[in-house]
Amino acid sequence: MTAEKKLYIKTYGCQMNVYDSERMAEVMGGQGYGVTDDPAEADMILLNTCHIREKAAEKVYSELGRLKPLKAAKPGLKIGVAGCVAQAEGEEILARAPMVDLVVGPQSYHRLPAMERAVTGGAKAVDTDFPVEDKFEDMSRPRMRKGPTAFLTVQEGCDKFCSFCVVPYTRGAEISRPADRIIQEAAQLVAAGVREITLLGQNVNAYHGHAGGLAGLIRALAGIDGLDRIRFTTSHPNDMDDALIEAHGACDKLMPYLHLPVQSGSDRILKAMNRKHTAESYLRLIDRLRDARPDLALSGDFIVGFPGETEADFEDTLRLVEDVRYASAYSFKYSPRPGTPAAERDQLPEDVKTERLARLQTLLARQQAAAQDAMIGRTVGVLFEKRGRMERQVVGKSDHLMAVHAEGPDSLIGRIVPVEIVATAPHSLAGRCVGDA
Ligand code: 5AD
Ligand code: SF4
Repeated sequence: MTAEKKLYIKTYGCQMNVYDSERMAEVMGGQGYGVTDDPAEADMILLNTCHIREKAAEKVYSELGRLKPLKAAKPGLKIGVAGCVAQAEGEEILARAPMVDLVVGPQSYHRLPAMERAVTGGAKAVDTDFPVEDKFEDMSRPRMRKGPTAFLTVQEGCDKFCSFCVVPYTRGAEISRPADRIIQEAAQLVAAGVREITLLGQNVNAYHGHAGGLAGLIRALAGIDGLDRIRFTTSHPNDMDDALIEAHGACDKLMPYLHLPVQSGSDRILKAMNRKHTAESYLRLIDRLRDARPDLALSGDFIVGFPGETEADFEDTLRLVEDVRYASAYSFKYSPRPGTPAAERDQLPEDVKTERLARLQTLLARQQAAAQDAMIGRTVGVLFEKRGRMERQVVGKSDHLMAVHAEGPDSLIGRIVPVEIVATAPHSLAGRCVGDA
C-alpha cells in the first residue's frame, strides 16, 4: 500500500527524542502517512523539541518562522509541536505561533491520530497530559528499522530534581517499562536486522522493570541471538549499583563505553546542584568501573557558570577532568530554566561562562585526541552503519563508540568487522579492515 500523505519530522535534542520521533512516524504510518525528508512535500510537519537549555527551546520558534511560507502556500498543511517544549509551554505555543495546529507532550504521542483527526476538522489540539495509559503499549505497530543500530527507551522521567534541570517537569516521574515488553521489542528489532541496541532513559540505571535492575535486563537481552552489542545512556552516579559495575566486566555484549555525567568537580557546587554525590565519590566509582573493565571509555556532561561558581570551584572541575581522562564529553554554559530552583539565584556574567567553557573544552578536546591516538595500531571491532562520503568507504562505530571509516564494499554495512586503526582526525578514526567477523 502506498502512503497517501507525507509526514516530515524534525528532531531536536537527545536520543530519546530520536526514538520518540521514530515511534510517532510509526503511529502516523497507521493513519496513512509515509515519512518524507522534504518539508515542502509534507502534509504534516512535526517539530520534536528540546527544552533543556534556552537556546534549544528558542530554535523551535525560529523554525516555526521558517515554516510560515510553507503553511501560507498550503493551507491544508498541519504543523505540530511535540516533545519537551510542547510539554513546558503547552497552549502558550499557540498564542506565540498561531500557525501551529497541535501541541503534544512526550507522554501523549500515542494520541496523535485522534489529534490529527481533530485538526483536520479545523480545530486546534493540545495534549500535555501524563496519561495513565502507557504510551508504549498503545503503539501496536511494529518497529520500522533502517540500519543495524537502534535506540530503545526502557525508562523515562526523573525523580532526582537537580536544581538546574527541567527534565523532572517535562518528562515527569520516573517510570520503567516491563522487561518482557522490552525484550519483545528488542527481538523485533534484531529480526529486522539490528545488531546493536542502546537502552535509553533519562536515568537509565535507575531502571527497575526487571528484578535484577538494569544489569538484569542487560543480561536478559544478551541472551537474544543476533544482538551483538548493548549500550545504555544516560546514567546517574548514585544509581550505578554493584551488579551494573560487575556487568561491565562480565557481559561481553555490553560495550566498553559509559556516559556518566558529573556536571561539576566542586563539592560546593555539586551540593547547590542537588546532585547528592561528591567529586571524590564519583572518582571512586570510576576506579571501580575501571577495575571491572580496564579499557572502559568514559564520557560525561559538564555545566560551567552555575550560580555561585567561583574560579576555585571551576578549577576543581578541571582537576576532576584531569583525574578521570575522558574519551569524550559534552559541556555547556549554565542556562537558567523557568521553574527550576537555580534559575532564581544570582547569575554569573556571560563572559565568565564563555571563558570557562572555552578552557574546559580545550582540556576535553585534548583528552579526546589522546583517547583516539591511543587507538592507533590497535585492531577494534567496528559495526559498519552506512556508506561514507568517499567512494568505496564505509563508516561505523568501534566498541568504544568512536566513529571509524574504512575502505570497503557496501556489503560490510550491518557487519562487525575487525579494523586496524591507522590514523585519527578530530572526531573520527581511519582504519583498514583486516578480516571478517
Ligand atoms: N543549563 C545547562 N546545561 C544543562 N543540562 C541540563 N540542564 C541544563 C541547564 N539548565 C545539561 C546537563 C545534562 C545534559 C543533558 O544537559 O549537563 O547532563
Ligand atoms: Fe536532569 Fe539528569 Fe539531574 Fe534528572 S538526573 S534532574 S535528568 S540532570
